Amino acid sequence: MNDYIKIKGGNTLSGEVRISSSKNATVAILPAVVLASEIVKLYDVPDIEDINALIVLLKKLNINIIENDDNFTIDPTDVKNVVLDCDEVRKLRASYYFMGALLGRFKHVRMLYPGGCNLGPRPIDLHLKGFESLGAHITTDNDMIEIHADKLVGDEIYLDIASVGATINIMLAAVFAEGKTIIRNAAKEPEIIDLSSMLNKMGANIRGAGTSDITIVGVNRLKGCIHDIIPDRIEAGTYICMAAAIGKDVLVNNVIPQHIEALLSKLEEAGVKMEVGVDYVRVFESNNLKAIDIQTQTFPGFATDLQQPITPLLCKADGESHIVETIYPERFKHCKELSKMGACIDVGEAKSSIYGPRKLSGAKVRATDLRCGAALIIAGLMADGETIIEDAYHIYRGYADIIEKLRGLGAQVE
Ligand code: EPU
Repeated sequence: MNDYIKIKGGNTLSGEVRISSSKNATVAILPAVVLASEIVKLYDVPDIEDINALIVLLKKLNINIIENDDNFTIDPTDVKNVVLDCDEVRKLRASYYFMGALLGRFKHVRMLYPGGCNLGPRPIDLHLKGFESLGAHITTDNDMIEIHADKLVGDEIYLDIASVGATINIMLAAVFAEGKTIIRNAAKEPEIIDLSSMLNKMGANIRGAGTSDITIVGVNRLKGCIHDIIPDRIEAGTYICMAAAIGKDVLVNNVIPQHIEALLSKLEEAGVKMEVGVDYVRVFESNNLKAIDIQTQTFPGFATDLQQPITPLLCKADGESHIVETIYPERFKHCKELSKMGACIDVGEAKSSIYGPRKLSGAKVRATDLRCGAALIIAGLMADGETIIEDAYHIYRGYADIIEKLRGLGAQVE
């Protein structure tokens, strides 16, 4: 795979794009299969690099996967608890879900520390504290982490931060723990609800996912299930921002609008013209946009993952827009790249100010992380001339069939 994406900007986009299943739900659901004693069938698994890395890890654990296009039949009946010390663990953040899943299933896990996008510090102390509350002991040596429990017993766990990863990891570890686990100040993201509904179909007893108190009553065994993964709200938001920036009439299909309410209301405030249906958002040509202020928040607030893709759109808006980042204060590497294309952006501590309207021009830029890559694609489509996005592998980690989807909308991209 070539490691750059070339875009000839300026083409107005139109037509229809179908959103794939959620990356951040699938990256939790695949490790969760370790907990099952029977076959699990997953429909519409997104074709992205993060999933390919997880498939390698599942196979290392002796889990058999039959892929039929995007439908997976996964057989974990002969799962083996091996040390996960290969490169794939470092390729993505979500490899840390094997900690909770293997601890839950085998009471023991040894693996490398997880990798993932460089968004500044990304500690996992809350995950580990949660495991300890359930009775696990943790040791670390060099880059390896080992977690062991003689037995796991339910407990009440308060999360200092409503962390998505910690909430999911504790859920995975607690499914078989004796008695009741209560996660207080749990994260409420839709991906957590999706994982919990899959685990419940398999026989788990989890209540309250989607609220800040999740209760898990331990069970002895999980059976198989068939599961359809929710659509990717961040991919949807990315295409909606793209359509607002350079679209004429774009239908973004397979969307759960309730998952992106904060984005939709901000776009409306900026003057983007949209029709919101039950499972779609149609975006009309939108000019004379107004500057807006955004503060990222945990769900249902404005998603941190969308503050990067909305930034190029704000370059088109009249006035000074502000973004305050409360989740990852250093998530602004895209701004320097956008400046190479003519954007006028000041970055301060955990915030950016975007001055518009500014016309963007093609340039050679670098995707420093997944959502930075998404922002650069939108900017490249808006810009005059040719844009080359280097390190495009970050983009393939999270956007399924992106080249085909963009071409389908009339973009000139290779
Ligand atoms: N945090 C801690 N300690 C912990 C865990 C988190 O201090 O033990 C802090 C983090 O440093 C951060 C905040 O808590 O400041 C929230 O982090 P969270 O744990 O919620 O994030 P995550 O689980 O690592 C997931 C998504 C991210 C998304 C965030 C926020 C996955 C695999 N990743 O990360 O997605 O930005 O939630 O919604 O689900 C992306 O898709 O591009 C992406 C980075």
